[in-house]
Amino acid sequence: MDIRVSVESATQYAGDAIIVAVFESAPLAGPAAEVDARLEGMIQRLAGSGEIRGKLCEITILHTQEKLPAARVAVVGLGKAAEADLFALRKAAGAAVRALRDRGCRRVGMALHDALSGARPEHSVRAVVEATYLGLYRGEERKTRQTLPDELDEIVMLAITDEHRDAASAVARAAQVAGESTNYARRLVNLPANDVTPTALAEQAVDIATRAGLDVDVLEPPQLRDLGMGALLAVASGSDQPARLIVLRHRGRTDGPRLAFVGKGLTFDSGGISIKPSESMHMMKSDMAGGAAVLGAMRAVAELKLPLDVTGVIPAAENLPSGHAYRPGDVLTAFGGTTIEVISTDAEGRLILADALGYAKHLGATHLVDIATLTGACIIALGHTTAGVMGNDNELVEAVMDAGERAGERMWRLPLFPEYRSLLDSPVADLKNVGGRPAATITGGWFLREFVGETSWVHIDIAGTSWSERNEPHQVQGATGAGTRTLLALAERMAGGAL
Ligand code: BES
Ligand code: ZN
Ligand code: ZN
Repeated sequence: MDIRVSVESATQYAGDAIIVAVFESAPLAGPAAEVDARLEGMIQRLAGSGEIRGKLCEITILHTQEKLPAARVAVVGLGKAAEADLFALRKAAGAAVRALRDRGCRRVGMALHDALSGARPEHSVRAVVEATYLGLYRGEERKTRQTLPDELDEIVMLAITDEHRDAASAVARAAQVAGESTNYARRLVNLPANDVTPTALAEQAVDIATRAGLDVDVLEPPQLRDLGMGALLAVASGSDQPARLIVLRHRGRTDGPRLAFVGKGLTFDSGGISIKPSESMHMMKSDMAGGAAVLGAMRAVAELKLPLDVTGVIPAAENLPSGHAYRPGDVLTAFGGTTIEVISTDAEGRLILADALGYAKHLGATHLVDIATLTGACIIALGHTTAGVMGNDNELVEAVMDAGERAGERMWRLPLFPEYRSLLDSPVADLKNVGGRPAATITGGWFLREFVGETSWVHIDIAGTSWSERNEPHQVQGATGAGTRTLLALAERMAGGAL
């Protein structure tokens, strides 16, 4: 698919369809009003009769019958003007392109980036283009018997003035990379655990590195043993699939901060000996979503050649019960020497991250951001729309929250007050891997904190956001690629000199 910007207006673009926006209970404005004039008031009439209400993601497709060069107009609702923000704009854009693609349109012009009066145009262009890529993703990589509508040939951002052309093109290009990288992560998460083993995940990393020009290092069990990564090795011990520690590095700059992304790459989480109920166990193929987000973000950082030193570390393992499996009660020694009493083998994500965070620090990271489908409790606390954020450095927490906002990903901070730490006290080891039911997302965060020392660190729990249970107007059911764009936005921010 081609993405470009054009000075052509909605009433000039001669493709299969154009997209214009309307608000709930508000007069038509901008491109919608221009198009309406050419359609002799049809949009206005439909609004008057209640067929077009302007509700968020409401789509009405009109045929222009040669009153306009484009064959169709998709009128998309943005909701109430006072509530419409970039989150709403993303949903509307995704919903509109999906609806048009599914009706066979191939060439689509968008006149949405001026719709929000409060937003900066470059933010709107970024949001709309990213949303286009996210909306068009189908998640059907393993279906063989589908007759699918064709892909779009082109998406054109309409009515970009000559003076904004270069800037808008650059923004659209970055948005394309961000959108494609998110879909790359979604694909990995949607693929089953028999396709995406730790070894296969490492092969993906090598592939990205070769294409995008990153350094890559994949550590295998003998090296992991030499380094003393007793936690990662223990989690992997129940499976015939050997563990991998994947390390990617983008050397965009030789001085300045050194950012590291650490992503949980649990390719299947059965719970191990502390086995999970079978009912939703198949969903646990998505327990490598943090790792996928790191791979996606590293791919984007490299393609955009960001002037920043960024490392991606992904501990990859499969958590299964067997005669070789680790047990509740075992005491493990993590990289760096900290001992851990295993209470539940199902709290395995924090174990593999303990080794990986320690290793990222050892490699010289000054800023650590880990991302993981860590706790079911995070879904209970924040639902499927919002990720949990914790950290030991307010400035970095703020930077991650701001990056989330920019990326269109909802995040909310949870506290790491010192009182929570005692929930992890163990009678036999330095700490235990489970703190019980109270504040389970926070104790997960506190556990990780024990392995970062004084280094600036933020933890993002994406257990709720990594997977969408439902088909939504703007995105298909399944993997969401959560975190990919937030990590990228953080790297962009830091490359620009702001923390
Ligand atoms: N991968 C799960 C968390 C999870 C649950 C992600 C549901 C997505 C959806 C994690 O490894 C886990 O099992 N966590 C336990 C921790 C508990 C034993 C402290 C949990 O949340 O129950
Ligand atoms: Zn688990
Ligand atoms: Zn898990």
